[in-house]
Amino acid sequence: MIRRILLWFLAVAVVGAGGAVAFLSFRSPDMRRPAPSVKVESTPERIARGELIFATAGCADCHSDTDTTHFGFPVKEGGLGKGKPIPELPGTIAAPNLTSDPETGAAPFTDGQLIRAIREGIGYDERVLFPMMPVTEYREMSDEDVQSVMAYIRTIPPIRNALPPSKVMFPVNLFIKSLPKVVESVPPPEPSRRGAYLAKINGCYFCHTPTERDQPVPAKAFSGGHVFSLAKDVRVVSANLTPDRATGLGT
Ligand code: HEC
Ligand code: HEC
Repeated sequence: MIRRILLWFLAVAVVGAGGAVAFLSFRSPDMRRPAPSVKVESTPERIARGELIFATAGCADCHSDTDTTHFGFPVKEGGLGKGKPIPELPGTIAAPNLTSDPETGAAPFTDGQLIRAIREGIGYDERVLFPMMPVTEYREMSDEDVQSVMAYIRTIPPIRNALPPSKVMFPVNLFIKSLPKVVESVPPPEPSRRGAYLAKINGCYFCHTPTERDQPVPAKAFSGGHVFSLAKDVRVVSANLTPDRATGLGT
């Protein structure tokens, strides 16, 4: 009897999982095609602001060759924006080359294709991007700020660095289909929400919030405990930034 019940449970579980996979295979992500036809006007103010955001929002960290033997993992001389393969992810995944190199960089792609990638999580080739690229945060980036990042990216000197095309492993490629969202237009933050905005687009929220299935849990925002295993024997846990007096920043 027990065996029969177990078998029944197993059958239901297998059919359930199969159903979920079938459902997700047919589900198409929330995406607009073609990419929006914006042409970003470059101004010295935008380039300067874009350079700042490129550093603070982490684009430079992930999309550059960095020196992991120094505090803060600074960008190596001649490594800015050249991209790199990211090991230990489910599949072959590389943070692409964002320099203005005409063959291996971002030069061949339109401003609209890049803005759609950054805020909406859809690659140049209409693939769903692996969410290490933090689109769930960047979708809150204002139009002015994303256009500033674009104006700056176009000024990054070309570096020829071909990377293998990304391929996300099954079934992760199906589960990430729910992440992209079409983002038409985002106004600048109200002055009273400016700190919250910066904490979102600069990763404080992401890193300082505990996660479930690699996504931050909103109800526990800023309470710390996100674990980072950086290398063998290097494991750091983010701090609690809430005003709790015993475990946070209250004192
Ligand atoms: C935590 C690491 C990380 C950060 C921070 C990050 N990226 Fe990425 N980015 C990635 C990875 C990894 C991919 C590739 C994902 C894939 O191929 O599925 C990617 C993909 C992209 C793409 C898509 C290109 C294509 O091939 O379709 C663009 C454009 C991009 N990033 C720009 C940016 C910009 C601009 C910023 C800052 C505002 C940024 N990224 C911040 C890791 C990151
Ligand atoms: C890439 C992940 C990451 C990002 C982005 C990040 N932090 Fe952190 N932060 C950490 C980790 C991990 C620690 C703990 C380091 C340690 O214990 O050595 C930390 C420590 C801190 C501390 C020290 C707290 C204490 O008790 O000593 C403060 C304050 C802090 N972060 C604030 C911020 C703010 C504000 C931002 C955004 C502007 C931010 N962090 C962005 C991961 C991050």
